[in-house]
Amino acid sequence: MSKQTFKIAAIPGDGIGVDITQAAIRVLDTLAHVNGTFSFEYTNFDWSSKAYLERGWYMPPDWEEQLKKHDAIYFGAVGWPSVPDHISLWQMILPIRQRCNQYVNVRPTRILKGTHPPLAQLQGKPSDLDWVIVRENSEGEYAGQGGTTHGHEANAVATELAIFTRVGIERIMRFAFETAKLRPRKKLTMVTKSNAQRHGMVLWDTVFYEVAKEYDGVVEYDKMLVDAMTVRMVNKPESMDTIVATNLHADILSDLAAALAGSIGIAPSSNLDPTRSCPSMFEPIHGSAPDIAGKGIANPVGAFWSAAEMVRWLGKGQLDEVADKFMVAIENVTGQPETRTKDMGGSANTEQVTEAVCKEIEKVC
Ligand code: NAI
Ligand code: MG
Repeated sequence: MSKQTFKIAAIPGDGIGVDITQAAIRVLDTLAHVNGTFSFEYTNFDWSSKAYLERGWYMPPDWEEQLKKHDAIYFGAVGWPSVPDHISLWQMILPIRQRCNQYVNVRPTRILKGTHPPLAQLQGKPSDLDWVIVRENSEGEYAGQGGTTHGHEANAVATELAIFTRVGIERIMRFAFETAKLRPRKKLTMVTKSNAQRHGMVLWDTVFYEVAKEYDGVVEYDKMLVDAMTVRMVNKPESMDTIVATNLHADILSDLAAALAGSIGIAPSSNLDPTRSCPSMFEPIHGSAPDIAGKGIANPVGAFWSAAEMVRWLGKGQLDEVADKFMVAIENVTGQPETRTKDMGGSANTEQVTEAVCKEIEKVC
């Protein structure tokens, strides 16, 4: 079999995004070297807030064409205190998700070995928290529609329109049911706010129940209002498995999920174009963490888990075992107190964790 080369667009971005992308590339190259059947070829894009402040743009006019030459995108984080966050997000990550048809954002959460969940009941039984949050990633509250009038005056008006389309809802619901179907517990919880939001969220619920009919007897499903969902996530984590929610709701719930699992630094995400017509994008869910940037202490585990999901996606079913072993290597490292970063109660730095994962890959993969 000839060796496969995957072309990766690497966008480290800002703050700790740079450190963890560098760490992920090193670990991915070790994995490819040990495995021997595939390799990675990276194009590094210096699109960041620092570059924006110097030259006035985040991405060049032909950014879409450049990215679409790749098999996948690996993204660090974007956002820096000297640039308003809505500018950094809307000039980089949100257009990429929209224009590359990445309408699904998959966010798995479980308690990795060595993490200390804040809830006492989970410390006794970590397997009770094992979720996949499926986030609608192309419309909803982050559709980008709205406007501002009389911006700086006393009578300023601003609107932020949430957009829900039948096509957009149907495809995310189908993806969520298919995800739930492949999981051992075969359970899907749909999150909504259709009591107060009586148009878009009602369509969201309606389409969910339409798609659900196709999975009757195959997937068990239920509905939760988003406010009550936060309570259930804390009090009855074992009662859920796959979760589907809107762009905003899932954004918030997945940070809560990460905190319940022990740290925001370990949580991965995959922005997928399930049609595979555009490259999908893989990134940890955390941001650029300006408070710890430049100190070399960021936890790279979320970046490694995202890299494992990228390998799984690129392999189209052929590299699942490699991705699983990669995860074993990561957990062997989080399982050791001396190779945990500060957010996980340890004192190791990014470099030490990266080195340890590379060594473990050589043993396990
Ligand atoms: P954040 O995730 O960057 O940081 C929140 C807290 O978690 C901080 O105390 C940080 O030190 C800690 N933390 C995050 N990742 C960590 C890691 N890997 N290891 C150890 N500790 C970690 O969220 P925040 O502070 O709200 O946002 C900072 C900037 O990042 C903002 O400009 C925001 O817009 C941007 N952002 C970008 C995202 C993206 O690129 N996808 C996602 C979230 C935020
Ligand atoms: Mg977020």
